[in-house]
Amino acid sequence: MNENVFVVNHPLVAHNLAVLRDKNTDTEKFNHALKRIAYALFFEGTKFLPTVEKPISTPICDTLSPMVDPNIEIIVSPILRAGLVFSDIAQEMLPFCHIHHLGMYRNEETLEPIWYYNKMKGKLKDPDKTHVFILDPMLATGNSGYDAVHNFIKQKIPQKNMVFISLISAPEGIEKLTKAYPELKIVTSKIDEKLNERGYIVPGLGDAGDRIFNTVY
Ligand code: URA
Repeated sequence: MNENVFVVNHPLVAHNLAVLRDKNTDTEKFNHALKRIAYALFFEGTKFLPTVEKPISTPICDTLSPMVDPNIEIIVSPILRAGLVFSDIAQEMLPFCHIHHLGMYRNEETLEPIWYYNKMKGKLKDPDKTHVFILDPMLATGNSGYDAVHNFIKQKIPQKNMVFISLISAPEGIEKLTKAYPELKIVTSKIDEKLNERGYIVPGLGDAGDRIFNTVY
């Protein structure tokens, strides 16, 4: 296993993943289970953030206590539309983050991403001090993940400052991203068996966007 791939092994994560995989789980239960796992993924993904020692006075004495470096900027980038399910929790855990939506859908024949939204106002203050969390519940072919990371590399943000957070990953997607971006970190709750001929993860949970938003067929 690549040293930059982190699988969150935890009984509650596994339990909620079973709820998500079950095709009989309704939308309400599905989204609650997904959010519970999101906390675990974010705690794992944010463990790489730099900290500084802050002088604090407790009721007992003065001390130094580590806090997230106030000089960094954090961008949280959900890939639309399924990545939105992680946004609330990202904002709750990182209230000072900037949310940057990346709109892509996949061409069902080529499985390549087609961009439709990517708006950034102004320039980054300091790319070296910018940390990015890219959110997509399903890391399948890795094609949209590849484009998302590339988008931030173009802004001169170092790969090592980026974390790709996914719920379920396919080996194919992991391979694509780790080969292209060896310093990118990937945090996931499970690496499944494979992709099927339509690019869906097996066993997976089906179309994450459809299940999150209860899409009418
Ligand atoms: N996207 C999904 O929503 N599900 C998959 O299995 C693969 C890509």
